[in-house]
Amino acid sequence: MITFIYAQDMNGGIGYQNNLPWYLPNDLKHFKRETMGHTIVMGRKTFESMGQRLLPGRRSVVVTRQLNYGEAFEDLTVLHDVQDVLQLAQQEDIFIIGGAELFKAVWPYVDRIIRTVILEDFPADIYLPEIDEVKFTIIEKKYIDKDKDNAYSHEYQWWIRNEEVRDD
Ligand SMILES: NC(=O)c1ccc[n+]([C@@H]2O[C@H](COP(=O)([O-])OP(=O)(O)OC[C@H]3O[C@@H](n4cnc5c(N)ncnc54)[C@H](OP(=O)(O)O)[C@@H]3O)[C@@H](O)[C@H]2O)c1
Repeated sequence: MITFIYAQDMNGGIGYQNNLPWYLPNDLKHFKRETMGHTIVMGRKTFESMGQRLLPGRRSVVVTRQLNYGEAFEDLTVLHDVQDVLQLAQQEDIFIIGGAELFKAVWPYVDRIIRTVILEDFPADIYLPEIDEVKFTIIEKKYIDKDKDNAYSHEYQWWIRNEEVRDD
């Protein structure tokens, strides 16, 4: 099983200047809750945008075309193409955590999408397309109002692929 997990704004923006466009502690907790104990797979730029930090309680996997990348990190698994990612997903459930380049490459194979929509517009330079409702169905959503620690209202959504349409 391959799951995508990401947060976007109202325009599909997910990144700005190699970082997240917003700070939303609730969503970071949601991300942690959903991914804890699992394998998380990310593009090289996303790994570097997180300060090359291995997130506790999760196995980190980085995808890069650079053959000697990651030699300095003892606990990091490095993969080099989509086929490697699909092979890993045959062995265990994986969460792809971004960014846009990796999501777009794996999109034809994703089974489940956990998306946060932040109900605001932000400056952004990395975008994802809208989820195709012919291919995916939303099975659950949860609206969260802004509060004193979380400046933006947002909605968590859980989508699954419709089995009958697999040809992305
Ligand atoms: N809002 C969210 O939920 C969220 C989540 C994650 C990231 N982001 C944001 O997204 C931005 C980064 O996204 P991005 O699209 O620029 O980069 P990215 O997907 O994180 O990383 C791109 C790099 O990953 C490697 N890569 C990607 N696809 C590959 C493939 N099919 N085969 C082999 N290598 C592959 C390549 O590394 P090499 O160049 O080393 O070969 C490529 O340059 C940042 O702003 C980050 O903050 C947002």
